[in-house]
Amino acid sequence: MNKEKIIVALDVATAAEARSIVAELRGEVGAFKIGLQLFTAAGASFVREAVEADAKIFLDVKFHDIPNTVAEASKEAARLGVWMFNIHALGGVEMMRRSSEAVREVCERENLLQPKIIGVTVLTSANRETLKEIGIERDTPEQVLNLARLAAKCGLDGVVASPLEIETIRQAIDEKDFLIVTPGIRKDAATRQRGNAAREIEGQKTKEERQNKLETIDDQKRVMTAKQAAAAGADYLVIGRPILQAEDRASAVREIIRDIEAV
Ligand code: C5P
Repeated sequence: MNKEKIIVALDVATAAEARSIVAELRGEVGAFKIGLQLFTAAGASFVREAVEADAKIFLDVKFHDIPNTVAEASKEAARLGVWMFNIHALGGVEMMRRSSEAVREVCERENLLQPKIIGVTVLTSANRETLKEIGIERDTPEQVLNLARLAAKCGLDGVVASPLEIETIRQAIDEKDFLIVTPGIRKDAATRQRGNAAREIEGQKTKEERQNKLETIDDQKRVMTAKQAAAAGADYLVIGRPILQAEDRASAVREIIRDIEAV
């Protein structure tokens, strides 16, 4: 079912706001994502509360630390009962491998449901320029693919990647059930670019500045519409602001699902 593909990002500051979004949308979407903002504000107790209320939770806190620390934190994520959580593939092979083994072991021993572990590749807010700034000379798709291959080799269940790299990852990784989770979904980039954004763009001095502005929509740089991402083969679409900022959130979700169904 297409609604199962939609993960709503609970990017809000309080448990009360998050509770009301979950209540409003729980029948409409597959899962909810608790990210850094809500986790820092409302903590693990809110994650437990949501899990106990039978919401499917993706804990998006992107662990990245020494292998032992990430493996131990991953065990705690499993104990929280989340459906999915993520770790940075940039943390390396040992960090990913030890974490997936630790989760498998603790779930067997304590009879827990095994959460899906997803590797973060290159954030959708980053582009080639961002990679260059931190000393990575590869172009973005190549870097994403390299990290996706490592994640698969280490036993992770899938990766987070922008819609633009889905096809390349699918072609390169054989595992049929390797998951691709895709943020960077925007309603209709073309329309937005033609509207307000285009007026702003005219004010930018150089061609590069104009291009950069054109590609950036609410700080996401590698974007597609839900329909394009689903057609390219994304398993899950993580959507925040296009739903959260809509006047009627449930209608915004339904519109996105209709869009996907037209694929
Ligand atoms: O509001 P928007 O639709 O941009 O929200 C996207 C969500 O996906 C945010 O919560 C962001 O943290 C998350 N995310 C992302 N890029 C990644 C991983 C997660 O945008 N690579």
